[in-house]
Amino acid sequence: RPRADFYEAVGGEATFRALVARFYEGVASDPVLRPLYPDEDLAAAEERLRLFLIQYWGGPTTYSEQRGHPRLRMRHVPFAIGPAERDAWLRIMESAVDSLGLAPEHRAQLWDYLLMAANSLQNRPG
Ligand code: HEM
Repeated sequence: RPRADFYEAVGGEATFRALVARFYEGVASDPVLRPLYPDEDLAAAEERLRLFLIQYWGGPTTYSEQRGHPRLRMRHVPFAIGPAERDAWLRIMESAVDSLGLAPEHRAQLWDYLLMAANSLQNRPG
């Protein structure tokens, strides 16, 4: 886990709530990503991603209390994630990150992690 002070420095829960809400607004109307989400309502998925990111960045560990070990690679196996899905995820996430107006070094830290994580979750070749 990164230094716990990152979480407070970027604004705590409100920042992650805004980030993930923006992200799922984008997913809701994205023709590549929307079909991957089985539920009609994206609220539960939104909460899981929000709690995961909060935990990862040093906030409360509610994610693991509810879901156990993240095992993200395993949890994404049911979804076909090729380059198009990864690119769509990153494009929507980048615009959500940019909407936060973070300090450049925080923005870079957050983005580097999300880029690395999205690359590691691609599970279909191009
Ligand atoms: C779950 C797609 C990348 C974190 C999911 C789900 C889908 C999905 C369809 C199921 C929705 C649900 O929770 O019901 C994708 C795609 C990605 C991607 C297409 C493109 C590369 C990422 C990245 C992260 C992440 C980079 C973390 C930084 C999560 C988490 C869950 C999840 C925490 C919920 C896991 C659980 O507790 O069940 N993702 N994802 N995903 N994703 Fe992703």
